[in-house]
Amino acid sequence: MNTLHQVDGALHVEGVSLEALAARFGTPLYVYSRAALEAAWQAYADAFAGTPHLVCYAVKANSSLAILNLFARLGSGFDIVSGGELARVLAAGGDPGKVVFSGVGKTTDEMRAALAAGILCFNVESESELYRLDRVAGEMGRRAPVSFRVNPDVDPKTHPYISTGLKENKFGVAIADAPRLYRLAAGLPNLEIVGVDCHIGSQLIDLSPLADAADRVLTLVDTLAAEGIALHHIDLGGGVGIRYRDETPPDLAAYGRVLARKFAGRREKLLVEPGRSLVGNAGLLLARVEYLKPGEDRNFAIVDAAMNDLMRPALYEAYHDIVAVRPRAWPAQRYDMVGPICETGDFLGFARDMAIEEGDLLALLSAGAYGMSMASNYNSRPRAAEVLVDKNEIHLIRERETISGLMSGERLVY
Ligand code: LLP
Repeated sequence: MNTLHQVDGALHVEGVSLEALAARFGTPLYVYSRAALEAAWQAYADAFAGTPHLVCYAVKANSSLAILNLFARLGSGFDIVSGGELARVLAAGGDPGKVVFSGVGKTTDEMRAALAAGILCFNVESESELYRLDRVAGEMGRRAPVSFRVNPDVDPKTHPYISTGLKENKFGVAIADAPRLYRLAAGLPNLEIVGVDCHIGSQLIDLSPLADAADRVLTLVDTLAAEGIALHHIDLGGGVGIRYRDETPPDLAAYGRVLARKFAGRREKLLVEPGRSLVGNAGLLLARVEYLKPGEDRNFAIVDAAMNDLMRPALYEAYHDIVAVRPRAWPAQRYDMVGPICETGDFLGFARDMAIEEGDLLALLSAGAYGMSMASNYNSRPRAAEVLVDKNEIHLIRERETISGLMSGERLVY
């Protein structure tokens, strides 16, 4: 987060001290920087300025209403994968005409809600889904705008759990089968073909798989055009990675130049669906050291944030930098940073050299994407509060859950 800096020996986000935030709202606490969110947005706007385009923020990365609202006000579109995400976008003031709906398992109710809202496009992921969408649209007296999500079979060179564009992945339809499916769609009465879509994976560090996927999709678009099937947009998905540790993520400006060359002279609009690169480095998770536990083999720092708050280390062995909010003057010791949850997999980082004491505050960095949106209540832990910092202003954008709230929908059996 480039808006994170030291003032008088302790970390601040923009003009606000993390110590003050912890004192006021408690920990664990998600903290976002408005300036960092807007700068990430602007980087996309600048990179793609030369090509008619629409950025559809992938809501799954962070679906908090205040963040959606901020992007909506910047003119963003949205990539959603559920009726819940659609409802959030609408509640946050997002324009349904800029919403694309991805996902392999859209239900009939979700299709109805999206048709009623008037979304830009359904990214259809199977033949069965196509038939169902045609039927649902017909029942509502509407025409559903559709793209196929094609699977270009490009190796994105990322973690296997977040690679999506390979033949063996469950997503999309095989690109070789796409012409047949488009012909089929063209013959269905309640559908309107508007585009094509692909998404090959997440946390991509290398531009070449993105460029290869674009080439394959553009070849398909030309084949379709030769058959008289013209598209309005080409959606190249999300996936641009961010720096968690020492990665060199793709330069957005370079990506923009590559796509500008490929789209020069084309009539279709470019869509992209970035998630992580818009929010990842605009958020951190603030936590407190509860106990230091020296061991024979290794030392543990037990903190009050856990895998339920930030699941990425446990799920993907993902690396998040962990820094002391007010580093101590003494030499660092090596710790495994763990949470209080009763699972060996409940770790936040291994072998970190830290100069800390019990009660100290820590910041887990790069936690803005897939942090809060993947948080759970495991071990009956209320989910954290979220705060958005805007220069010297502090906005509580989500209250901390309460234990009584967690139990509120439950019933005993007599
Ligand atoms: N569009 C579609 C259809 C997607 O499936 C995804 C992410 C995105 C866009 C956004 O991709 P991004 O720009 O954020 O890379 N929970 C994992 C990441 C899962 C990503 C799944 N799809 C993590 O924490 O690393």
